[in-house]
Amino acid sequence: MTSAAIRVRGIRKSFGELDVLRGVEFEVAPGSIFALLGSNGAGKTTIVRILSTLLKADAGTASVNGFDTASAANDVRESISLTGQFAAVDEVLTGRENLVLIAQLRHLKHPGRIADDLLARFSLTDAGGRKAGEYSGGMRRRLDIAMSLVGNPPVIFLDEPTTGLDPQSRIEVWDTVRKLAKNGTTVLLTTQYLDEAEQLADRIAILHEGTIIQNGTLDELKRLLPAAKVEYVEKQPTLEEVFLALVGPDTSKEDAS
Ligand SMILES: Nc1ncnc2c1ncn2[C@@H]1O[C@H](COP(=O)(O)OP(=O)(O)O)[C@@H](O)[C@H]1O
Ligand SMILES: [Mg+2]
Repeated sequence: MTSAAIRVRGIRKSFGELDVLRGVEFEVAPGSIFALLGSNGAGKTTIVRILSTLLKADAGTASVNGFDTASAANDVRESISLTGQFAAVDEVLTGRENLVLIAQLRHLKHPGRIADDLLARFSLTDAGGRKAGEYSGGMRRRLDIAMSLVGNPPVIFLDEPTTGLDPQSRIEVWDTVRKLAKNGTTVLLTTQYLDEAEQLADRIAILHEGTIIQNGTLDELKRLLPAAKVEYVEKQPTLEEVFLALVGPDTSKEDAS
């Protein structure tokens, strides 16, 4: 028996000729925040889709909340929520109505109470009566995360939760994610932002060319590179320096300048 909230063993996935995942392995402890860090196209969403039973792996096994994603897909689905880059928020409804609707769809008792609790948890009480279409980017994303928490799933997947958000909204979402983990929810988030992983994650795994090439706490990753001595001040490497040393510079974004 394992106490890991998420366990991934030897997962492989190809799309035609493209070998996206070539034996991915990692575990996520309950109640922790785990960041899957990788460049655009590394396969982060593919892993999330496999873990949330939307996609079948070609090989390997994965379990979520103790349930096998292949043989107990329904149990996995009842244990998780998934928030993607594309918000499920209905703009015509108010924030509160969005939450009530989800609670009703899940046949939960007291949908109004559930909505009010979540609005309070995400600092949206005052905005709850306004149409979601009028919300800022950060408020919308917070509402989206709140919606995914209706029914209290023990495991939540956040696929690039702050992509496209302004700096202030990112900080709001980060606070939200921290609160989630404090309440015992296991969070697996994907990101291509090093500072996001640095800010939030208890553990960071770097996905590169189909495998997890490093997995550790921020301190462990930083220890992979020697601290540079500058005069009398010891400068710790940033996660960005560690990432670039491991993965190499991103040549896909090079331009002529
Ligand atoms: N359904 C699919 N069919 C073909 N190729 C896909 C499919 N889904 C993803 N890919 C490819 O797999 C690679 C990894 O995609 P993805 O998991 O979305 O990466 P990430 O989320 O890290 O940006 C990309 O090259 C993408 O084009
Ligand atoms: Mg993705």
